[in-house]
Amino acid sequence: IVFTEKQEALVKESWEILKQDIPRYSLHFFSQILEIAPAAKDMFSFLRDTDDVPHNNPKLKAHAVKVFKMTCETAIQLREKGKVAVPDTTLQYLGSVHLKSGVLDPHFEVVKEALVRTLKEGLGEKYNEEVEGAWSQAYDHLALAIKAEMKQEN
Ligand code: HEM
Repeated sequence: IVFTEKQEALVKESWEILKQDIPRYSLHFFSQILEIAPAAKDMFSFLRDTDDVPHNNPKLKAHAVKVFKMTCETAIQLREKGKVAVPDTTLQYLGSVHLKSGVLDPHFEVVKEALVRTLKEGLGEKYNEEVEGAWSQAYDHLALAIKAEMKQEN
């Protein structure tokens, strides 16, 4: 696959911006997930017993950061190596966590849409289709690797 230096730079730059306000963007990210797929709520231990998306919840922030950060790392790998290069042990861990939590293939599309909406929110006028395309491409490759691992472990 071709992932350009420009795309890598766009992903890195936008992550630098979002990283500056993790509480805000992680909340936005999860609000979007629940808006798109309300039923997804019960999969997350930290959402199960609440009506609202909790503010400043460490687990919520951790998941949001992981999704953004690992997608950003995947962008770098795609540019450098032309493929996803997440260590096997990490991928196995991701496979089993998501399998155990009841995550299904379509949920990955939900999370992608939430990620895109959060980028839009955070970047304002710096947001454009090129940014969206770069993030989407990196995310799709990472999601594919996790889904493949989930199928293998199942
Ligand atoms: C847990 C990463 C997509 C639902 C985790 C964990 C990681 C992770 C690292 C372990 C706990 C942590 O460190 O926070 C990712 C990445 C994703 C992704 C990189 C996509 C590229 C999804 C999707 C769903 C999902 C699509 C479902 C909508 C969950 C749930 C847990 C979890 C329910 C257990 C968290 C808990 O209840 O405490 N994920 N995830 N993840 N993930 Fe994901």
